[in-house]
Amino acid sequence: MQKQEKIIEMFDEIAPTYDKANRILSFGVDVSWRKKACAYVLKTHPKNELDIVDVACGTGDMIGIWQMQAKKMTKKILSIKGIDPSRGMLEVAKKKFQGVEFIQSGAQSLPLESDSTDIISISYGIRNVVQRQEALNEFARVLKKGGNLVVLEFTKRDKGGFVAFFRDFYLSKILPFLGALVSKNKSAYEYLPNSIEGFLSKEEFIAELEKSGFKMQYFQSFSFGVSSLFVAQKQ
Ligand SMILES: C[S@@+](CC[C@H](N)C(=O)[O-])C[C@H]1O[C@@H](n2cnc3c(N)ncnc32)[C@H](O)[C@@H]1O
Repeated sequence: MQKQEKIIEMFDEIAPTYDKANRILSFGVDVSWRKKACAYVLKTHPKNELDIVDVACGTGDMIGIWQMQAKKMTKKILSIKGIDPSRGMLEVAKKKFQGVEFIQSGAQSLPLESDSTDIISISYGIRNVVQRQEALNEFARVLKKGGNLVVLEFTKRDKGGFVAFFRDFYLSKILPFLGALVSKNKSAYEYLPNSIEGFLSKEEFIAELEKSGFKMQYFQSFSFGVSSLFVAQKQ
């Protein structure tokens, strides 16, 4: 089986326990990272009525946050779509949301028209996309000129220091143990720290965004660099 297919199959397997595991493993702080990301983009985007696509939507966590923050900031969501290649994750998402269109597809080839959306978000998803540069090119194609790409991701940290030691210990020892306990799938939660290690540094990812025609607009690092927010603009 190809690497990408294996990753999708793994998400199919953990889908029923994904939400529970996510809240436990992140101590709930991922919600505040998501809220800050959506609030920043809604505040700075010049339009008041927006079309949004959430790629690698999983069970729909980002979709819920987009809806909540838009309501708070009196911005109108004209349409919101969730896209993910995992049937299992989409099945959970569909039960949680009404009025959201869910499409089964990978980020590297989006079944969407060019220049058709104002915002694309991808949270904790891009490191799972094997054909990453193709996906970034797709995001640039589908976004309208001036539209925003919003990426939340765990990025590689420089080694050294107490915080780095604690973070590495948590990711390599505690997280796989707790993840396996909740999901009964040990290998899936061993994949997580490995996929973070195998991902890019902040600088390397920004270089890839620029290669696809994006201009970096905003960067924020959360919780001592555990999670990073990248907001880029289509030129
Ligand atoms: C860690 S989950 C994140 C889900 C959700 N965005 C969240 O924040 O909770 C990663 C998601 O990436 C999806 N994924 C894996 N390969 C993908 C690809 N090639 N294109 C798009 N999504 C992909 C998985 O199916 C999974 O739902």
